Amino acid sequence: MFKLDGKRALVTGGSKGIGLAAARQLRDLGAVVTLAARGEEALRAAADDLGAAWVVADVSTPQGVQAAVEAAGQPDILVSNAGGPPPSLPSAVTGAAWEQGFQTTFLSTARLTDAVLPGMRERGWGRIIAITSLTVGRPALNLPVSNAMRAAVTNHLRTLALEVAADGVTCNTVAPGYTATERLQKLHADPAEAAKLQARIPARRFGKPEEVAAAIAFLATNEAAYITGQEILVDGGWSI
Ligand SMILES: NC(=O)c1ccc[n+]([C@@H]2O[C@H](COP(=O)([O-])OP(=O)(O)OC[C@H]3O[C@@H](n4cnc5c(N)ncnc54)[C@H](OP(=O)(O)O)[C@@H]3O)[C@@H](O)[C@H]2O)c1
Repeated sequence: MFKLDGKRALVTGGSKGIGLAAARQLRDLGAVVTLAARGEEALRAAADDLGAAWVVADVSTPQGVQAAVEAAGQPDILVSNAGGPPPSLPSAVTGAAWEQGFQTTFLSTARLTDAVLPGMRERGWGRIIAITSLTVGRPALNLPVSNAMRAAVTNHLRTLALEVAADGVTCNTVAPGYTATERLQKLHADPAEAAKLQARIPARRFGKPEEVAAAIAFLATNEAAYITGQEILVDGGWSI
């Protein structure tokens, strides 16, 4: 079956939720994993659990990106992930919120990618996978910053895929639907609302972080070498 023996993987936003589930699956396939996030406590607990390396790094800053990439030591696999922008109506987004969303969601991925690409191209093997959202193609009214920035990430990686496809480096995005993590609990805290939402999902339930992680892990394998510039939706049929 699939193997990632000896590959180095950097998972940012790796202390919780989908990032942590992805890190676990990459580890299970044999990769040497480094987790990055801002909060040390959760990071340490996750890293202990996985037997992974860890680094406190805020990927919305150039220094954080540099620290994360250095800690991972020339990663072969990058899972670019961070927290999602807070909800608001589109007409109410402040300049500061646009700026923060740009730094955290878009520039983090662009900078991480810039930092890992030269090594991947030199070695002739690399996997760049960004976690985005089903809202890329189906904007959610209350997530305007996320909708805009994730679309930018998607198209940046599609463009980059064109440049590096012949170098053994693939660039893809995995777009989760409603997935049962801390973020979802915060966004849909009311159980009655959560039940209503689940009733609208064709699968009639929220996804599990491991179900999104499985798509990420597959994209990281040798077997996925010919898949590039793609968005894989893991959404229980919502987008249909
Ligand atoms: N769950 C869903 O239903 C869903 C649906 C669509 C899209 N998404 C997107 O998928 C991504 C992962 O979601 P999730 O539900 O797994 O979120 P989560 O449970 O809130 O986990 C987010 C992870 O990112 C880390 N993080 C946040 N900001 C960071 C930063 N600036 N630098 C480094 N690490 C950072 C967090 O740790 P620290 O806070 O300690 O840094 C944590 O490890 C998010 O971008 C989210 O918007 C989620």
